[in-house]
Amino acid sequence: MPTVFITGGAGFIGSALIRLLITASDWRIVNIDKLTYAGNLASLAAAGRDPRHVFCHHDICDRPALDALFAEHHPDGIIHLAAESHVDRSIHGPGDFVQTNVVGTYTLLEAARAYWSGLDAAARNAFRFHHVSTDEVFGSLGPCGRFDETTAYDPRSPYSASKAAADHLVRAWQHTYGLPTLITNCSNNYGPYQFPEKLIPLMIGNALAGKPLPIYGQGDNVRDWLYVDDHARALQLVFERGRPGETYCIGGGNEKTNLQVIDTVRDLLDRQSPRDADRRYAELKTFVADRPGHDQRYAIDAGKIQRELGWRPLETFASGIAKTVAWYLDNSDWVAQVQSGAYRNWLERNYAQR
Ligand code: NAD
Ligand code: TYD
Repeated sequence: MPTVFITGGAGFIGSALIRLLITASDWRIVNIDKLTYAGNLASLAAAGRDPRHVFCHHDICDRPALDALFAEHHPDGIIHLAAESHVDRSIHGPGDFVQTNVVGTYTLLEAARAYWSGLDAAARNAFRFHHVSTDEVFGSLGPCGRFDETTAYDPRSPYSASKAAADHLVRAWQHTYGLPTLITNCSNNYGPYQFPEKLIPLMIGNALAGKPLPIYGQGDNVRDWLYVDDHARALQLVFERGRPGETYCIGGGNEKTNLQVIDTVRDLLDRQSPRDADRRYAELKTFVADRPGHDQRYAIDAGKIQRELGWRPLETFASGIAKTVAWYLDNSDWVAQVQSGAYRNWLERNYAQR
């Protein structure tokens, strides 16, 4: 059975990818995850209990552990998602971002290269190292234009700088050593199982708790939103059919200001879970100090992956955000669970005992 290593498979996008691959592929999945605050095995749902899913609790900075996993499982490729991923945390504590995103990617590249060098010619050709990155490496746009695969790198936050560094390392390993790499740069994701510190789940959770909805600056920053399952389908396509050495930009073509996003969320909540008759969620909107160095606008031209691999998003923003709000309303237990470290430890012990 073909085997793929997925790093960060207990996170938001990694778990969506594993749920997809368990239903829509034959891959045996070795999920390598350190289970930071953002990693939760509960997000894998039934896919986590499938015999084709093997969970390995490791840090991607741990070279001996990685070497042992390569020797034991003989993977045909890697999809690398493990990262520190929240811009605000990177501003307050950049060290973890350099460690996991830069040193961790370097360590994984070196472990992969050592293993790949020992394969026969056919297996070396077929092997893929797919690095999952962000559009934030390209910096910030003014009112016009979109990022594509030719856009120069211009990262501005500790998070995006650490992801840009990792992208450069991956390209260098391809040019220097011939490792067959793929890079994808995707726009902002949203959907079920997103940790409730990112904009959309934070707004849903705060609104339901009657807490303020904090809007940085004027709320006019623009993000290009993509439903997470559409990203997962794009990752599967690029991993299985992308051309080694290439980069693919992925985006939903859904540019929204933060105020538009927040107003859409509170409209849906007013309909799906109304407050008392005389109180609306809009009252909770609160303008707060801006994020330092806040990028103004991101937008992706996804023409290359559409032309070469036939990928198209299946969700519009309207359909995806309605599903997302409904999911958070139905899954308040998951939110409570992932915010509780005690639960995560319990779950990990139970997985280890299986
Ligand atoms: P996430 O924060 O939800 O999940 C990250 C996962 O990585 C967690 O399960 C965590 O436990 C694991 N992890 C962190 N450090 C680790 C380490 N040292 N060793 C092993 N595992 C570790 O992130 P996400 O939103 O799912 O993002 C996944 C990837 O996609 C990241 O590389 C991110 O840069 C990229 N990306 C995210 C978005 C987005 O909108 N969320 C958009 C484009 C690209
Ligand atoms: P976020 O979800 O952190 O993603 P990123 O910074 O990677 O784009 O934030 C999305 C946008 O929402 C960004 O412009 C910052 C803004 N934002 C707020 O206005 N308030 C908040 O509480 C958060 C978390 C984000």
